[in-house]
Amino acid sequence: MKENELNYYEKIGNWEFSHIKRKTEYLTNWNYYEKIRENVNEKSLCLDIGTGGGENVLKKYPQVSMTIATDFSPEMIKTAKKNAKEYPQRNVKFAQMDSLNMTFPDGLFDLVSARHTVIDAKQIYRVLSDEGVLVIEGVDQKDCWSLKETFKRGQAYHDKKAISQIDYEDIQNAGFRSIEKVEIRVNEYYETVDDLVALLVKTPILDDFSEEDNSNFSHSSKIEKDLLDEYVRKNTTEKGILLERVLYGIVAKK
Ligand SMILES: C[S@@+](CC[C@H](N)C(=O)[O-])C[C@H]1O[C@@H](n2cnc3c(N)ncnc32)[C@H](O)[C@@H]1O
Repeated sequence: MKENELNYYEKIGNWEFSHIKRKTEYLTNWNYYEKIRENVNEKSLCLDIGTGGGENVLKKYPQVSMTIATDFSPEMIKTAKKNAKEYPQRNVKFAQMDSLNMTFPDGLFDLVSARHTVIDAKQIYRVLSDEGVLVIEGVDQKDCWSLKETFKRGQAYHDKKAISQIDYEDIQNAGFRSIEKVEIRVNEYYETVDDLVALLVKTPILDDFSEEDNSNFSHSSKIEKDLLDEYVRKNTTEKGILLERVLYGIVAKK
């Protein structure tokens, strides 16, 4: 288990961004929840790993027989159980578990989903049933690139290999038979500088968080004002302050 990363998520305790005012423009036709929906039915047993405070699994996941949603942070699971009370009709059960040390029996799940979180492809392969499907959405190295260039640092900024490629190779090596990987581009427009700052202090976008080795991970909410002003000046548009997101999506079949 990665202690520094765990401490970071323990302090945050939720993955809720609805207080931030922003517009979102999807430039790629690939939707994570749509891909999950295409690969399940009402009898499916699903596993959502690194689920955070359950905000997304409760609101956006398709109706299936049952979804087990796990996170290694007790604080996140506490939030998720609280959030679940607002969705009594949803069949989602939350449990604390490290995704890198899963204790589920072999072949249990019809689908495993992982959004913006760490995976171990071999363990996912093990817990998937025959013909089971893995759906991932991740934050790629080139995410918010001009912001990272302005600050000369940020999530995966110094990595030699992009996280999307690392995941792809791990999934291939784990034995999945068909793997589809896409680059997802999204433009976000933040209404005010405060909205942008609210995102940056809560996420590791500007941290020296390496996707290759994050054993030194530590989160700093310090954001240099002169560099932020420079970024805002260059990226203010009539729709708001532009942040170019680069994500990746993977659908892999066992
Ligand atoms: C960026 S949040 C994403 C939350 C959620 N998947 C979503 O999309 O809203 C990442 C989550 O992964 C969890 N996480 C990170 N490493 C983990 C690990 N090794 N095992 C389980 N959960 C982990 C964190 O605690 C955090 O809640």
